[in-house]
Amino acid sequence: MGESGCGKSTLLYAIAQLLNPPAWIAEGTVRFRGQDMVALGDEELRHWRWRECSVVMQSAMNALNPVLTVGAQLRDALQAHESLTSQKIQERSAEVMRLVGIDAVHLRSFPHQLSGGMRQRAMIAMALLFTPELVIMDEPTSALDVVAQRSLMLQIKDLQRRLGFAVLFVTHDMSLVSHFSDRLAVMYAGQVMELGLTRKVFDAPRHPYTVGLMQSFPSIAGERQELTGIPGSPPDLLKPPAGCRFHPRCPHVMTHCRTEEPAVVDVEGDLVRCHLYPDGQQSTVPLLSSVRPR
Ligand SMILES: Nc1ncnc2c1ncn2[C@@H]1O[C@H](COP(=O)(O)OP(=O)(O)OP(=O)(O)O)[C@@H](O)[C@H]1O
Ligand SMILES: [Mg+2]
Repeated sequence: MGESGCGKSTLLYAIAQLLNPPAWIAEGTVRFRGQDMVALGDEELRHWRWRECSVVMQSAMNALNPVLTVGAQLRDALQAHESLTSQKIQERSAEVMRLVGIDAVHLRSFPHQLSGGMRQRAMIAMALLFTPELVIMDEPTSALDVVAQRSLMLQIKDLQRRLGFAVLFVTHDMSLVSHFSDRLAVMYAGQVMELGLTRKVFDAPRHPYTVGLMQSFPSIAGERQELTGIPGSPPDLLKPPAGCRFHPRCPHVMTHCRTEEPAVVDVEGDLVRCHLYPDGQQSTVPLLSSVRPR
């Protein structure tokens, strides 16, 4: 999670190796089952995508082709990666539609004949065609009402339990984060500022930015508290602030925050990028490092 424009979608695209020029990966690695994805060639990537990792894009419900039926789009995706008989294609398409709770008759429907939630689920069905190990979802439920949101997330969770894939998802919805995620990464100005077990980050946020985010939404339980939020707005990423990128908005700013970029440290199992934790162990797991202009 993180404010709009902080680079969440860009990070997901980088992980899936889907960045379009002029964007490129300047440094770092993306490890998937021990292999560095950044080093893979086009042919290997083509094989990896869909089969091992699939992506459900932001505003996925508008990503379906309006002039093809849902069935035709599933068939295209299947045929691009495997040679199957029409019978097998039909069976597999009906199967993934049922998985996401849509009746297989809708294989004959055009996207405009489905509701927004059904289109969203049809996109997820497409992502599950090859039962990948990792499904990347960029705000999978943001276009849905709260009831549909919850039911879709429960469905994803259930599918995950049955099929055993991992989900990496972006959301602005704190309640979805707290109910459906195991680990949480908080991004600010193109960097991951904090990464840890969701419960721990919620109970004891360490980075001042995370604390600010947590104070920006009301809690249902406990005493009534004034919402404070975070004054100011995120920086221009072409000219990020020197030192810690959050220092201009940070209530705990110290002199060296303005000049020295904090290292990522391990504070009792949570990774934090902040000078407030000088005694943390230097982390061996690099968080997304700064992307420098060419
Ligand atoms: N194709 C592009 N060309 C130029 N700049 C881009 C492009 N895509 C993204 N950016 C810039 O990169 C930054 C990060 O954008 P990104 O879409 O990753 O943010 P986000 O965290 O996903 O935001 P949101 O929550 O609104 O989806 C923004 O400043 C944006 O202007
Ligand atoms: Mg985005």
